[in-house]
Amino acid sequence: MTAADGFAYRNGELHCGDFRIEDIAHELGTPLYLYNLDAVLERFEQHRAAFSSFSHRTSYAVKANSSLPLLQALANAGCGFDVNSRGELHRVLTAGADARRITMTGVGKSRADIEDGLAAGIALFNVESASECRLISELAEAKGVVADVLLRLNPDVETETHPYISTGEAAHKFGLSPADIHSLASQAAWLPGLRIAGLAFHLGSQILSPAPYAQGLRVLLKVLDDITPMLERAPDIIDIGGGFGVRYEERHGELLPGQVAAVLAEVLGTREETWTLITEPGRSLVANAGVLVSSVEHVKPSEDRNFLILDAGMNDLLRPALYQASHGILPLRSDDSHVQMYDVVGPVCESSDTFALRYPLPGLDRGDRVAVLSAGAYGASMSSNYNSRPLAAEAVVYRGRWHVARDRQSLDDLMRGEHPLPL
Ligand code: LLP
Repeated sequence: MTAADGFAYRNGELHCGDFRIEDIAHELGTPLYLYNLDAVLERFEQHRAAFSSFSHRTSYAVKANSSLPLLQALANAGCGFDVNSRGELHRVLTAGADARRITMTGVGKSRADIEDGLAAGIALFNVESASECRLISELAEAKGVVADVLLRLNPDVETETHPYISTGEAAHKFGLSPADIHSLASQAAWLPGLRIAGLAFHLGSQILSPAPYAQGLRVLLKVLDDITPMLERAPDIIDIGGGFGVRYEERHGELLPGQVAAVLAEVLGTREETWTLITEPGRSLVANAGVLVSSVEHVKPSEDRNFLILDAGMNDLLRPALYQASHGILPLRSDDSHVQMYDVVGPVCESSDTFALRYPLPGLDRGDRVAVLSAGAYGASMSSNYNSRPLAAEAVVYRGRWHVARDRQSLDDLMRGEHPLPL
């Protein structure tokens, strides 16, 4: 079962590590996100090892999964973090992250985001506009500090991925053109609150070929060579973003960090300078180490199909509805005897609330449970209260124990902070 790290059948029952998922679901109810943190750490170690020939820092993209125990486990293992908001910054600091390993990214950082980043003393801001540079410089100067920034280059490189998650082409809102970077570098002296420490790019997500990284790096090096003479200190950090594609289904491929490291080494081969290389993997560390456990609410046969209506919906896992993403689905109890084709759907009032069409599963009944696979990335972190459905519970398996990471929202939680009219 290659699409699930740390999940396997034992005696016909799906386990997460050593634990029967049915037992955890029985105790916590469903929908339930379940993550195997040992598997996440294994992925992190593989990622780190793949780039070990560079002076390298892993900056986990918190947006993929911001569960507190997961952040703690990664922080403990020495991983750095890429945060996209002051909320994510707050989470990683709560998880015990070292501020010197935190980068703040994002195309629209607010004043409050930047102020929080400066107050925490984070390592880097990846900046995406001249306006943001001026604001960071002004706020840093007021605080009497100099903020290290990486300018995010838009290298205009195409990637074969879903258009919603492609970010490195000129038409996208992300990053700065080579000309804009040139102009910013030439004004660096007028931005006393910041220092340009290097360049960054992020091409997109779920990329399955290493070639775009090589292309992006070539463009980046050209821009670096262009701006270096204009700067007081030579920039020495290169950040190639995240985007390493994972295997969502067994028949699909994945992009291994070693493949990316190899093409980067080839491009950098003839250069004499030494740079610190930063990678920002999100999905590739966590996607396959998480499942969404759900119970069957109803089975509804119709003329030409059989609907399996789950208690998890698009509010819990938006990816199929938003990107037409396919996720494998496994019954918690394996049974090959009565396989049937199901249209697996959620309870939300939208036809896009569909997990899979004509999907083979054993005969299932009300109360039986399934696991939606590869839900560890952009699952819980993109969930919502649509249809006024409480957020799912989350649990983790870590070093031979399981642990509740987040209680299921109660109906009171759902309405917290709302104010009825004083009628
Ligand atoms: N760095 C930056 C600046 C990013 O914007 C992202 C993701 C990453 C790193 C991490 O990319 P990853 O390694 O996870 O591919 N919700 C979409 C994915 C959106 C990705 C947004 N940016 C999905 O479910 O496919």
